[in-house]
Amino acid sequence: MLIQIPEVLSQEEVVQFRQELDAADWVDGRVTAGYQSARVKDNVQLPETSPVAISLGRRIVQALERNPLFISAALPAKIFPPLFNRYNGGHSFGNHVDNSIRRVPATGEQIRTDLSMTLFLSSPEEYDGGELIIDDMYGAHSVKLPAGHMVLYPSTSLHRVLPVTRGSRVSSFFWLQSMVRQDSHRSLLLNLDVAIQKIGRDVPEHPSLLDLTGLYHNLLREWATV
Ligand code: NI
Repeated sequence: MLIQIPEVLSQEEVVQFRQELDAADWVDGRVTAGYQSARVKDNVQLPETSPVAISLGRRIVQALERNPLFISAALPAKIFPPLFNRYNGGHSFGNHVDNSIRRVPATGEQIRTDLSMTLFLSSPEEYDGGELIIDDMYGAHSVKLPAGHMVLYPSTSLHRVLPVTRGSRVSSFFWLQSMVRQDSHRSLLLNLDVAIQKIGRDVPEHPSLLDLTGLYHNLLREWATV
């Protein structure tokens, strides 16, 4: 399931983020790549220990924790501290699958990557190319979102970033471990949650709301590992 989360950051926040990021020290993106992905990765990123990355990353996580669609779709258990990358001058990232287990540098905590996220920090007009292409059973999906918007997709997916042939593509990328490991289970829970909320808005006194909410929680209890 590939989900767009609009307006994770406001346009004012995006401008602030970009000012801090443009002034930061960038390094070769291969520092966080696994053996296989290092062969196809060509971009720059902020070091995981960069104070700018740590402070902006915290702001992203705080914004997500207030975002009902994100919480409902991801059911997050542990969120990896967001990282930041930049592609320009023909940079690209070839086909790869993200590493399955990530260790948080500051704490040593291990996170299983169930969902991968890209939060766009450049507007699509600022650069040519740079589409994130995600393969799933229905084919290849091209993702290029407005600044401040985020895409959430299963970390099991093969994906790539096409070469940036003009301008700069700045984004934040990170992963999370979900309370519900299986993508198909998360999809069912999201669909049920959206339907319950719709009935709650349209017919707030409907007696079946209680039954459906109970069903949602009992399914979550069945599938969650916390
Ligand atoms: Ni990746």
